[in-house]
Amino acid sequence: MGNHHHHHHATAGHDDPGMAELLDLDAEVLRDHLTEVTDLVGELTADAPPRVILDLGSGTGTGILTLLRRFGDAEGIALDMDERMLRHLADRADALGLGRRVRTVQADLDTTWPSFGAVDLVWASASMHHVADPGRVLADVHATLRPGGLLAVLEMDALPMPRFLPDDVGVGRPGLEARCHALLAEQRAEHMPLLGSDWGVPLSEAGFTVEAKRTFAIDLRPPLPAETGRYAQATLRRIRSGVEDHLDPDDLSTLDTLLNGDGPESVLRRTDLTVRTTRTAWMARRP
Ligand SMILES: C[S@@+](CC[C@H](N)C(=O)[O-])C[C@H]1O[C@@H](n2cnc3c(N)ncnc32)[C@H](O)[C@@H]1O
Repeated sequence: MGNHHHHHHATAGHDDPGMAELLDLDAEVLRDHLTEVTDLVGELTADAPPRVILDLGSGTGTGILTLLRRFGDAEGIALDMDERMLRHLADRADALGLGRRVRTVQADLDTTWPSFGAVDLVWASASMHHVADPGRVLADVHATLRPGGLLAVLEMDALPMPRFLPDDVGVGRPGLEARCHALLAEQRAEHMPLLGSDWGVPLSEAGFTVEAKRTFAIDLRPPLPAETGRYAQATLRRIRSGVEDHLDPDDLSTLDTLLNGDGPESVLRRTDLTVRTTRTAWMARRP
């Protein structure tokens, strides 16, 4: 693990390296959660383990690479609109010895639906809330899945970023992190109205049978995974770039103290971090 000091602030978008790092850290820190979700997929596909798996909005490959390790006979297709994510994914796949079992497809789901052949399992983690017309994408997923095939939709709630800090952080005024999240929520409501929505309705409308909906209230306490400090730093950096124009100066300087990699109050050194977030999984079957 390198000790890099990136002092730039990532912009909120998907075409920047900061996002790839954040997705990889998310996978490491929330590994137990991911295992719970793939366990559920395993239960629901026990009769016929998937042979072809499609990951929509794969990012750096957290979903597809985990699924390929779990389902040893499966081949994977990783689709993303972002070429850089896919290159990162291919490198990870090679490092894990999975390079020959996964192919990448660069496509924008808002404008294209490539033909895939029959697919047994579709995985869409934190990607459905990005698409412009989820109904159309779900109809395409339905047509691509074989009858009996499964779609796993994973989403975050309306406050998508995990929380890490104790409530008392904030100069003279506790609750710095809550104020940041409240500002972020206003923006998200405007730009990502689908975040935190109930996918059960559009799934049913697209012809799926929702066989399970499970909400995971994640609340990690020490001892935390080793990457937690860096995950907190990458997340808070991203949050900073979203709220810096609206946050009051005291809060902004407290945030910078937390983000500074070298200081004693840096999130890299604090021992009082926790990881709190909510994720929901819908398991939908094509009848
Ligand atoms: C929040 S990331 C989630 C990545 C990954 N599924 C995970 O759980 O770690 C969302 C991903 O969806 C991709 N994405 C967003 N809109 C898309 C679209 N219209 N077509 C294809 N991919 C898209 C982004 O490039 C990004 O990699």
